[in-house]
Amino acid sequence: MSYDTIISGGTVVTASDTIRCDVGIRAGRVATLGLDLGEAAETIDATGLYVVPGGIDSHVHIAQPSGPGIIMADGFESCTRSAAFGGNTTILPFCLQESGQSLRQAVTDYHAKADGQCHIDVSFHLIISDPNEQVLGQELPALVKDGYSSFKVFMTYDGLALTDIQILETMAVARETGALMMIHAENYDAIRFLTAQLERKGDTAPFFHGKSRPIPVEREATHRAITLAELMDVPLVVVHVSNGEARDEIARAQAKGLNIMAETCPQYLVLTEDDMKGLNMEGAKYVCSPPPRDKASQVACWEGLKSGVFSLFSSDHCPFRYDDEAGKLLPKGRTSFRWVPNGIPGVAARLPILFSEGVSKGRIDINTFVAVTATNHAKTYGLYPQKGTIAVGGDADIVLWDPRREETITNANQQHGADYTPYEGFAVTGWPVLTMVRGRTVVRDGVLVGDKRHGRHMARATHRA
Ligand code: URP
Ligand code: ZN
Ligand code: ZN
Repeated sequence: MSYDTIISGGTVVTASDTIRCDVGIRAGRVATLGLDLGEAAETIDATGLYVVPGGIDSHVHIAQPSGPGIIMADGFESCTRSAAFGGNTTILPFCLQESGQSLRQAVTDYHAKADGQCHIDVSFHLIISDPNEQVLGQELPALVKDGYSSFKVFMTYDGLALTDIQILETMAVARETGALMMIHAENYDAIRFLTAQLERKGDTAPFFHGKSRPIPVEREATHRAITLAELMDVPLVVVHVSNGEARDEIARAQAKGLNIMAETCPQYLVLTEDDMKGLNMEGAKYVCSPPPRDKASQVACWEGLKSGVFSLFSSDHCPFRYDDEAGKLLPKGRTSFRWVPNGIPGVAARLPILFSEGVSKGRIDINTFVAVTATNHAKTYGLYPQKGTIAVGGDADIVLWDPRREETITNANQQHGADYTPYEGFAVTGWPVLTMVRGRTVVRDGVLVGDKRHGRHMARATHRA
């Protein structure tokens, strides 16, 4: 029996097992797991390395309209390149429906931006900003059938926030179609009230972004979102959870038997609101929503990952250039934090930060690392077992991970379109040294060897399928 590629000498890690064996790959899929596999056109020596499923980052924003004069720093080429350098083989970005726009048109527009530009595989979620009759009655059900089986809604942000009745109506369609709703849980009115109050006092620097949306704002919205999902009997993913109070709402719902899933992100493990204190607008580099909190919240998020309350660890990559009037230094942003574009880059930093702070420092084991960075994303969003694990018949989406390699995160090694990383200078132990998508090597030893036309769009099954 011969193979296109054999990965030999490594330790294969899945969400459940850690096994010393070789991987035989044929026609882009895993053909055999075993020893003494025989001949291959190419043999990759993985001695001393972990052989892990490629990362799946299910929360990524690319080329998304973000307000007048604001331009997102990544298109599909740079974001998928950055993701591959960070050890990812699939990302799930969003197709944003702009107000009044047809959802189908939004999907068509994002495909036009992505086609031929992706180094790794991609599958779109939808963002529903205008749940009108046409969208809920026709477009969404048809798109779910076509494999766009998850969508995000927002409880805050001008132009995006849905009212409770709109959320309920959208959940009703999720229930009928099997689509999975993701929710951004922050109380819009409370943020507007607190923002106006801060501005009246002259507290307009980026640091006050955090003060405009403190923990109760997120906790209340999380509780309300869960309550609405309970009323409608639908599963729900609470995205980018930043603290222990929101985590406890989720844990309580899970203990009651509700199908509530949750995600946290690197910024909630290693940044705090103090990072937004930087002078001369430097704090804008860390402005995202929910904002990074405090040390106790970091501990709570680690506990959430460890206990399984958070089954997903995503980047919420949402990149803007810093030194740019179309980015974080938007002129209006100097007048108030309210206008600073929300979001930070992190698609390449996600896995090194979690491995180093989690596995290398003994907070989580390597199987949990694989589960929360790959397997659970594939299971939650309808890509498993084709993706998210290393199993015979599955796509050969594989990363070789050097657990001893010491690196420092810099903007240059992130490869994204932003001109900064919020993790500049962060020292890590553990680094991806090879990223392979469907059997083809995309990045090897810090060099791009793949082709931007290799990535494919994946239609997905529904969460309950
Ligand atoms: O600040 C953030 N997180 N920006 C991205 C959009 C979102 O809410 O996920
Ligand atoms: Zn969000
Ligand atoms: Zn996001």
